[in-house]
Amino acid sequence: MISRGLEGIVANTTRLSDVLGEKGQLIYAGYDINELAGKVSFEETIFLLWNERLPDRAELDHLSAELRAHRELPAQVVEFLKAAPGAANPMDVIRTAVSMLGLYDDSKGDSREANYARCLSLTAKIGVLTGYYHRARQGKDLPPVRTDLGEAAHFLYLLNGEEPTKEAADTLDLAYVLHADHGMNASTFTARVVVATLTDVYSAVTAALGALKGPLHGGAHEGVIVMLKEIGDEDKVDAWVDAQFAQKKKIMGMGHRVYKTLDPRAPHLRDMAVKLTAQLGEPKWVRMSERIAELVKQKKNLNANVDFYSATVYYSLGLPTDLFTPIFAIARTAGWTAHILEQLADNRLYRPLSEYTGMPVGLTVKPIDER
Ligand SMILES: CC(C)(COP(=O)(O)OP(=O)(O)OC[C@H]1O[C@@H](n2cnc3c(N)ncnc32)[C@H](O)[C@@H]1OP(=O)(O)O)[C@@H](O)C(=O)NCCC(=O)NCCS
Repeated sequence: MISRGLEGIVANTTRLSDVLGEKGQLIYAGYDINELAGKVSFEETIFLLWNERLPDRAELDHLSAELRAHRELPAQVVEFLKAAPGAANPMDVIRTAVSMLGLYDDSKGDSREANYARCLSLTAKIGVLTGYYHRARQGKDLPPVRTDLGEAAHFLYLLNGEEPTKEAADTLDLAYVLHADHGMNASTFTARVVVATLTDVYSAVTAALGALKGPLHGGAHEGVIVMLKEIGDEDKVDAWVDAQFAQKKKIMGMGHRVYKTLDPRAPHLRDMAVKLTAQLGEPKWVRMSERIAELVKQKKNLNANVDFYSATVYYSLGLPTDLFTPIFAIARTAGWTAHILEQLADNRLYRPLSEYTGMPVGLTVKPIDER
């Protein structure tokens, strides 16, 4: 039997997260995402994914301190971020910088402790290199990393050069929690396939970044903002959606391979989007989104996915559109690294088969001048 795109195929077991497509439920290590959202920070979520349990106060403080202590980038990576083309897709820059981090990590050994240390270092640095690149491409200075801010607040601090409001930091923190892991999605599968060859952690995360960049995966929410701006006004939504369907074009942020009902992350992001756009005096973005979601549901029975509302949340926070996917990547590094550690703990190489549909065997090679 062939399953194109491996749809419906169970490729491995995992204790980290479960996506129940029919129920619209997402579980991280035994906790429903609706239980975690608003109650745990991104740092607690990282601990949960790496340890399969929530930390106590001392463990959380320890992990937070460790992450903060590993923010500093190697000088060569900083030089690269300054030299990288300002017009590049930031995901290309981040992917290259993560690969470079591997060059300057001279730690040895392949024990769980050694790989855990690499995962921690990478998780601590990915937000920093994203923030630094964003500043560098605008010709701005690169402020020294700080150790008095949590992950979300520190990222916003690097982007804007000033401390974020508590509300902005909490909003991004919750978006990080919601994006941290998601079963065997394409980039996580990529990370697991790559590390299962017993290559290194950096190669696996570099590959995962390449997968996440695609518009059918993490790149979708950038498309949502492009779409909303293209539509422009609430009274143009219906005609625009009809035209998309007539041209058989996909509507970004709608549909999901696994969820056949509402993506459980979407309502949390919708609530944030409603609050933020109201504060900004631009509630029309959410109203337009709601109408698109309604029409797509009616016409195709497709539901909004995580990207549909996170786009508006990030936009309302003043984050540049081309950093939406990098922000997803920062959050998902928690999941990728957890899956890498889980894969390595009980490794088996991924090696599926393919069905050959080429020419029947038996062709003979003609001399080149006779072909
Ligand atoms: C996520 C996605 C790739 C899942 O796709 P999939 O499981 O391969 O689903 P299919 O492409 O087989 O779609 C099934 C049907 O729904 C339609 N469909 C799926 N997503 C659609 C969308 N976003 N807009 C319009 N139609 C869509 C397909 O055209 C297809 O219709 P058909 O049966 O008439 O040909 C797909 O829904 C998509 O491209 N969405 C937009 C990108 C996006 O938001 N990605 C982020 C995912 S978190």
